[in-house]
Amino acid sequence: MVRKISFYSYKGGSGRSVSLANIAFALASKGNNVGCVELDIGAPGLYEILNLDRMPEKSCVSLLRNRDPVAVPQSVIDVGNAAHVSLKGKLYLIPALKRDVMAVEDIKWDKKTLEDFSSRVINTFAKMYELDFILFDLRSGIDLSSLIGLMLGDEYAIFTRLDKQSVEGTSWLMNTIKSKSTVNINPRHFVVVTGYRGDLARISLTKLEESIGETIEYKIPYDDKMNLQEEIVVITRQKDDPVRAAYEQLVDKEFAIE
Ligand SMILES: Nc1ncnc2c1ncn2[C@@H]1O[C@H](COP(=O)(O)OP(=O)(O)OP(=O)(O)O)[C@@H](O)[C@H]1O
Ligand SMILES: [Mg+2]
Repeated sequence: MVRKISFYSYKGGSGRSVSLANIAFALASKGNNVGCVELDIGAPGLYEILNLDRMPEKSCVSLLRNRDPVAVPQSVIDVGNAAHVSLKGKLYLIPALKRDVMAVEDIKWDKKTLEDFSSRVINTFAKMYELDFILFDLRSGIDLSSLIGLMLGDEYAIFTRLDKQSVEGTSWLMNTIKSKSTVNINPRHFVVVTGYRGDLARISLTKLEESIGETIEYKIPYDDKMNLQEEIVVITRQKDDPVRAAYEQLVDKEFAIE
């Protein structure tokens, strides 16, 4: 069975996409087949983060518009090939592309789109490429696209920084979602703090933990190079690098095949 995980953050710039890329590479280098789906169609970024040298014919936007399973292979990029990295497992991406950003208004974000996209497009992607994991990169905040993205995942990975707005927003969001039955956050989720450093961060973290009533295990240390170069540390750095180690600990604990 494929595991579907929605990567979400209340605020933008939370390290969600860079973390998704690192986690996807870590999973594929352990021999898993991983599919990434970029649902942040208003501001795509995975293409740059993953250092790809070619684009697919179609994109996530065309698939959301037409939900035609036949178009799936034309929308998929083999990331290992396109980034010139050899991996034990396979890593694929259905990207959103800048050329399609303006087509966002052609998508009908309703229940039918969600059901068709899930049953036709996502199921085809999973079966055709024998995927073990599908990681959805969602839009931040709450709008129709992020709600659909949350409903596509069976599990949620929630990213946050520790600035005032992020802490307030993430607490509010998690407590709100937990109290609603339409989006069910209870089955399985974990929270990841990115860019963690210093004493003030520790105080913010405690505040967030108290507010959501959970201990946050995953703290990705602040790193200058990550900040400016959006590195895939799990392939570029040594095992004992603190940022790489933090991602690997997360993958070992949360993505172990049961
Ligand atoms: N551990 C870290 N230390 C320092 N900078 C980081 C760290 N993790 C991520 N960043 C940087 O933060 C910036 C935002 O990250 P990213 O694009 O992944 O966020 P996002 O949540 O996907 O944002 P958006 O909502 O705009 O898509 C990037 O430049 C990224 O490299
Ligand atoms: Mg992003």
